[in-house]
Amino acid sequence: MKRKTVVVGVTGGIAAFKTCQLVSDLGKMNFYVHVIMTKNACEFIAPLTFETLSHNRVSVDTFDKNYLYDVNHISLAKKCDVFIIAPCSANVIGKIANGICDDMLTTTFMATTCPKIICPAMNTAMLENVIVQDNIERLKKYGIQIVESISGLLACLDVGKGKLADSDVIIESINDAMICDKYLKDKNILITAGATVEKIDPVRYISNHSTGKMGVAIATCAKRLGANVTLICNTNEKVDPNINRIDVKSASEMYENVKKEFDKCDYLIMAAAVADYTIENISINKLKKNDDDLALKLSRTIDILKYCGENKKHQKIIGFAMESENLIDNAKSKLSKKNCDLIVANNINDKGAGFATNTNLVTFVGKDEVISHELMSKIDVGYKIFEYIKEKE
Ligand code: CTP
Repeated sequence: MKRKTVVVGVTGGIAAFKTCQLVSDLGKMNFYVHVIMTKNACEFIAPLTFETLSHNRVSVDTFDKNYLYDVNHISLAKKCDVFIIAPCSANVIGKIANGICDDMLTTTFMATTCPKIICPAMNTAMLENVIVQDNIERLKKYGIQIVESISGLLACLDVGKGKLADSDVIIESINDAMICDKYLKDKNILITAGATVEKIDPVRYISNHSTGKMGVAIATCAKRLGANVTLICNTNEKVDPNINRIDVKSASEMYENVKKEFDKCDYLIMAAAVADYTIENISINKLKKNDDDLALKLSRTIDILKYCGENKKHQKIIGFAMESENLIDNAKSKLSKKNCDLIVANNINDKGAGFATNTNLVTFVGKDEVISHELMSKIDVGYKIFEYIKEKE
């Protein structure tokens, strides 16, 4: 896949030090990064820092005669896939909102036609000033995405809004902006993720090793593709704030919530590792040990996927199957028993396909086909699922 180019504009503000981490992270994610700084930004951070982190010459002056031809403002504007300004000062927000281009950063920004993102960071009173707010609204109207600043203790020792958004939030906004074809727009997608937890007593429980990484990755893809996403989950993974997250613990809680959301969804993707059994009598008090063995009575949980398969109307349903043997046969039997449209199957014994990894090795088992995929990131598995869905529409 072609390496994507991110142009990072840096303006004069103390939050510029955080942009060093952002540039470093983007480089590690294999983006080609080119930094443009304003003259004021150079008062806070030396261009050399960004040159070292981005492996590219930093642009400051539009008329620098030492520049190679292909880093002038027009060629940078042309090769950029996403243009982000972080931090963006009130001054540069004002300039852009009013069409002023008087340096390398603002001229390049104006010349680019790719998706643009602005991350304001400044003192709270400046941010709340109606002039700045009007300018931000104007930028939104022009289709420029704003990554809101966050609240906290500012460098000026005031407490309030104005801190630069966290690096992972900014990176997610870049990943989101990279996807221009939002083909899931207006679709409601319901996804489950993580392990359910069945209580034994107030202290103990039965669960499994699922971390929720797969389901959260699918939810992230769906959100990037423009869908309205609801994620019913039990996970410690970071979930994008644009995803409607519902936290649950037990299989029955997951069932109740899926049932509530199911009618309004277009797609259900059951990536959660739902317990097949629950404790029949949860002890109100902590169980005390004695010298005898202990037998716990387990009873079956409701099979959520099967319930949805039996009650589906317009919805398409995707289930998961984690197997250790007879992968395809077991997946095919789940597909028909649970009336699914697709089963995403993987073998727990395959390298890179287990719990808590960032990768998965999956086989799609549909009604008419079996498609084996190579080892890929869980995010890419998510995209493959939606490509499959799109082809079947
Ligand atoms: N599932 C569910 N409700 C349950 C159990 C599982 O919705 N109570 C869903 C899972 O989210 C997953 C799929 O069903 O999408 C897994 O199928 P399942 O037959 O339950 O697989 P296993 O739990 O591995 O059970 P087994 O292989 O023993 O049949």
